[in-house]
Amino acid sequence: MSNVVVLSGAGVSAESGLATFRDSGGLWEGYDVQEVASIRGWNLNKEKVLDFYNMRRKQAAGVRPNKAHKAIAELESKFDVTVVTQNVDDLHEKAGSSSVVHLHGMLKQARSEKDESIIVDIGSNPINPGDKAPDGSQLRPNVVWFGEPVPMMETAAKIVGKADIFIVIGTSLSVYPAASLVSYTRKGIPKFIVDPSTPELYSFDGWTHIRKKGEEGMSELKKQLMNQ
Ligand code: OAD
Repeated sequence: MSNVVVLSGAGVSAESGLATFRDSGGLWEGYDVQEVASIRGWNLNKEKVLDFYNMRRKQAAGVRPNKAHKAIAELESKFDVTVVTQNVDDLHEKAGSSSVVHLHGMLKQARSEKDESIIVDIGSNPINPGDKAPDGSQLRPNVVWFGEPVPMMETAAKIVGKADIFIVIGTSLSVYPAASLVSYTRKGIPKFIVDPSTPELYSFDGWTHIRKKGEEGMSELKKQLMNQ
């Protein structure tokens, strides 16, 4: 079976009702993303950061995967599919994707503030100031913030390097190192972008851009790939 690798971002979840980052001018429901999604922001105001992620966790728990997530999952009937997502929601899993790498962590997990290997499943529950990890330190969201390394990058780069077909959906490709994954593809493989606007790619050589929203664009691409 050929390997299909999908790199997804906030846009794939937009039609489920979750806001993207850059379409809202860097504000997410009125919060400055740099302020609440950075290690600096955490050190300045933990309560604010916890509130922000509690809100996002609650919202994510209340939405359903859309046709784009489902079309990606359905590709598994013909291909070995791995999804590398920058999203912290679990809509790919809920749609049925069996192999999902979360580059930027997951809302439904908390971790120790001091030790990133101590992870606790919290489902859709909030994290409050004073909630402790098993090591006695404050719990924080298990997400990667600006100013922090991305531990899954090496794994993700290896996965992208094995792709026979590469699909980029719903990401502005403006956040590094995640955006650099596009450069790990092997030469000459088919590469697709599903996005109504134009991501920040250095060169569009060899790419097919399906300039549509995720549900429509991904359903079309699925049909094309299943019939080839
Ligand atoms: P962005 O908000 O930067 O980009 C969203 C992309 O989705 C844009 O290219 C939009 O054109 C596209 N888009 C909007 N609506 C769409 C739809 N209905 N269907 C398909 N595409 C659509 O989000 P990301 O690229 O995911 O990181 O942002 C990357 C990272 O920046 C996030 O993971 C997060 C953020 O700060 C951290 O929190 C560390």
